[in-house]
Formats: sequence, C-alpha cells, structure tokens
Amino acid sequence: MNEISSAAIIELALDLASSLSTKDRFNRLLDTVRKVITCDAVVLLSYRQNVLRPLALQGLSRDTLGRRFLVNEHPRFEVLCQSREPVRFAASSPLPDPYDGLLNNRMGDLPIHACMGLPLYFDDEFLGLLTIDSLTPHIFEDIPERTLALISAIAAATLNTALMIEQLEHNAQHSQQVVAELTKEAWQREGGELIGESAVMVQLKQELEVVAPSDFNILIYGDTGVGKELVARTLHQNSLRKAGPMVYVNCAALPENLIESELFGHIKGSFTGADKNRAGKFLLANGGTLFLDEIGELPLTAQSKILRAIQSKEIQPVGQDNVEHVDVRILAATNRDLKDEVLHGRFRGDLYHRLSVYPIHVPKLSERRGDVQLLSGYFIERTKRKLGLSQLKIDSSAMRYLERYDWPGNVRELEHVISRAALKAKARQKSSAIVVINPGDLGNLVNESNSFNEAIIEKDETLSNIEPAMADINLKEATDHFQRQLIISVLKQEQSNWAATARKLKTDRANLNRLAKRLNIKVIKKVI
Ligand SMILES: Nc1ncnc2c1ncn2[C@@H]1O[C@H](COP(=O)(O)OP(=O)(O)OP(=O)(O)O)[C@@H](O)[C@H]1O
Ligand SMILES: [Mg+2]
Repeated sequence: MNEISSAAIIELALDLASSLSTKDRFNRLLDTVRKVITCDAVVLLSYRQNVLRPLALQGLSRDTLGRRFLVNEHPRFEVLCQSREPVRFAASSPLPDPYDGLLNNRMGDLPIHACMGLPLYFDDEFLGLLTIDSLTPHIFEDIPERTLALISAIAAATLNTALMIEQLEHNAQHSQQVVAELTKEAWQREGGELIGESAVMVQLKQELEVVAPSDFNILIYGDTGVGKELVARTLHQNSLRKAGPMVYVNCAALPENLIESELFGHIKGSFTGADKNRAGKFLLANGGTLFLDEIGELPLTAQSKILRAIQSKEIQPVGQDNVEHVDVRILAATNRDLKDEVLHGRFRGDLYHRLSVYPIHVPKLSERRGDVQLLSGYFIERTKRKLGLSQLKIDSSAMRYLERYDWPGNVRELEHVISRAALKAKARQKSSAIVVINPGDLGNLVNESNSFNEAIIEKDETLSNIEPAMADINLKEATDHFQRQLIISVLKQEQSNWAATARKLKTDRANLNRLAKRLNIKVIKKVI
C-alpha cells in the first residue's frame, strides 16, 4: 500500500471513532475508498433476507438508493454474497451488471469495465457489500489483497456500527411507544372518561381542559372514591407529556426506610439488599408525569426530600456521588385536608405550596345532581360486558333507591354496589337473556334509605289522600302534613343533605332537626 493510501485509511479510522452521524460515516468511508482506489462508482449495501439495500453511493444515479436488489435476480451479487473474500470480476465476465444504465452521466449498457465487490463480515455475520466499479478495464488487478482486506474490515466495522445504532434507536423508540401505550391502556382500563353532566362536573372538566396542557404541578383533592386517580390519568393523557410515561407511586404504601431508594433509586451495594443498580420513580417518570397518590400519608422526612427534588429538578440516587437532572411533572392526590395538615405541622407548608400551584377539587357524588343515573348506566354497561351478559338493566324503583342514597363512598361505592347487585340479579335470573336489577339486589343500601323512603311513601299517600281526608281534618294536622311534605320534598332535592335543606327552607339546622324529629322524618346515612 502506498503512503497516500495508508494516510487516508488512518485518517478514516480516526474519523470513524469520533462521533459522526451515520450519513457522515458512510460518506467518509466512500471518500476514502475513492482516495485509495481509483474508480468511478462505489456503493455500500446492507444485506437482509436475500435483499441488498444501497445505503450510500458515489458515481451512480441517485435513484439507485431507492432500489432493493433481490440477490437471486443478480448473478454478480449472488457470487459476492457467497464469497468470504473480495471478488474481482474479469473484464470479459458475461454476468449482467446490476448497475447497468445507472452510472452517472452515462446512458445505456455498461461497456467492458472493471468491477469488484467486497463482502462485509463482522463477527462472522454477513452484513453487506461494498461494490467498486471503474470504466477502465483491468484497473483493479494490481491492488494488493492486503489493501482490499483492510478496506473490507473498516467498511464492515462502519456498517456494523450504523446497524447497531439503528437497532438501538429502534429499540428506544419502541420502548417509548410501549410506555405510552401502556399508560394509555391503564387510563382506558379505568374507563378513560369522566362521566357526569352535573354543573360541578362540567366545571371540573373545564378546569382540567385548561390546566392539563400546562406544566403546573397539580394537587387533586377530594373524598375517598370520588375519582382522583381518574382525574390524574385524564390530566396526563391531555398533557403535552402524554407520549411519556405516567409513573404511579402510592405514598401510603411506601415503607419508610425504602422511600428514598424507591423515589430516587440506588446504586449496587449502597445498602444491604441493593444487589443491582435500580432507577427510582423520579427517573422512570423522566419526560413524563409522576403521580404521587395519597401524598398526605408521606412522613415529614420524605416530604423534605421530595421538595428538594421538585425545587432543584435533580435527584441523587442512594449511594451515588453525583446528582442527575430529571424533568417530571408532579400530580399529587389526597383525601386529607392538606391545609389543615399544614396547620397541625403534619405537612410541610412549602411542599404544599409547591404542589398546589393549581389545586383541583373533585366533588362528592352527592353534590353531582343527576349524575348517579349516568354513572349507573356507565357501570351497568361495563358490568354487563364483564359478566358476559347479553343485557343488564335496572328497574325504576331500584334506580330511585340509588338516586336517593347519600353515597358516602362516592363513585367507587356506586361501582361496587352495581357489580354486587348485578351478580345477585344474575344468580336469581339464571336462564333469562335479560338480567334486571331490582331493589332486592341492592342489599343494605335499601335498608339504609328505608326510613327516608318510608317517609316519602307516606308523603305520596298524604298527597293522594288529602282530598278525601279534607272533610274531617283539623288545622294542626293539616299544618303538620304540609310541613312534612315540604321538608321531605326539599330533602329529596338536596339529596338528603340536612344542612342544604335547612338553608333552602331558611331555617337553622337545629330547628329543622327538632321539627323533623317531631314529624318523624329520618334519613339514616351509613357506609356500606
Ligand atoms: N366521573 C367518573 N366517571 C367514570 N368513572 C369514574 C368517575 N369517577 C370515578 N370513577 C371510577 O370510580 C372508581 C374510583 O375512582 P378513583 O380510584 O379514581 O377514586 P379516588 O378518588 O382515587 O379514590 P381513593 O380516595 O379511594 O383513592 C374507579 O374505578 C374510577 O374509574
Ligand atoms: Mg385513589
């Protein structure tokens, strides 16, 4: 090999070791080949499943890049693919040339010319070919085998690196798609939709629409079972981070001594039992959302660590010297009154302020007028599917019980009541194609609404009987009847809420309670 060739190859080796884009690597490889070997065309092709795909070329028309050569349709390629050594075709070879008509600035058949190909192997795996053509016949005959072996090795390494990078990029992209898909699936498994048309739900949905695409940390608060997790998943799905992960942390279930490692990760050997490096939830949520559920249960020490991570956007895995940058949006949920927790010193005020840049309150089910019916329909349809029933319905009296009940366990309680009732109804009506839930399937719930319902039934009777009874009624009884009727009707409107009923009747709660007692109106509220 002459000096120019050696220098060019060393320069190429150095170039390839630096961080170049794949396209640049290929171009430098082809430039070097042309410096070392006088030729008119050089092409790098990758091989996969009997197909050769040009990755880079010089001296051939650009459309060649779009061609996919089936090896068994091109005898010269077939010869090259079966060889482990460079092949120099004789100038007089009768085998058709795959590049016929593709040479730049040259129309028609290729005349007699020099043509050779280097099969590229890396770790015994056949990766592709480097083909070199010249319009000057016999020009390749004097090139030493050693030079060709060196070019083959460098071309194979270049191709291998490019294929590896392509594979890694593909894997990374694939993993990201899997994460986004799983996150979306978890959201859809939960229903993926916030059912409700009551004024408070319409307002909640509007708030979510506004705040979801922002990068604010959000504190979601509300009673147990109101749908806080569903709200959090909805926020993530409608955020700009939806292609990223949503990582769930149940703060109430974190063992105190492992909180730091769970959230920030650890390195191998940092404590007994740390037998390998482990990424924490913050790092797993990088580029996405971290959902800290039941944040009110977090001990104060852990609160300080989370605060630091949120403020600095940096985390330090247990046992690691340096910190790592993370980009996460925090959504937190609690059924505690965090302001009150702050007042009592159980929750850090500074963390509370960081989290509640935009607080979102999820209302109780009893405040969502008219939504019990919609949610019931939604859960009935879902239960029907789960139980494999062809039809599941609820009769109107059972629906009335659902509407009158106070729902201390909120939407989750309604969901459970319907699942249980459907099972009972199914067992009762084994052979029926249409399964109907009746009040008997609602179990305890009916008893708990009973005194209220009895009162309402009495009221209905009073209404229907009032005229015939009019003849011998006295003023006191008529006034009691009227008061009773009015209180029951407002109680019903206010979904058994005594405070709201008292407000509406412009009386105070204690008076109303006394009056109701005298008139024997009761609503029993119990958690089932
Ligand atoms: N508006 C809604 N539309 C449809 N399904 C809902 C709605 N709200 C809640 N759900 C469903 O009710 C169940 C309870 O909701 P979720 O788990 O989000 O409540 P939560 O407030 O996080 O409860 P907890 O305080 O017990 O953790 C879930 O199955 C959820 O999908
Ligand atoms: Mg929850």
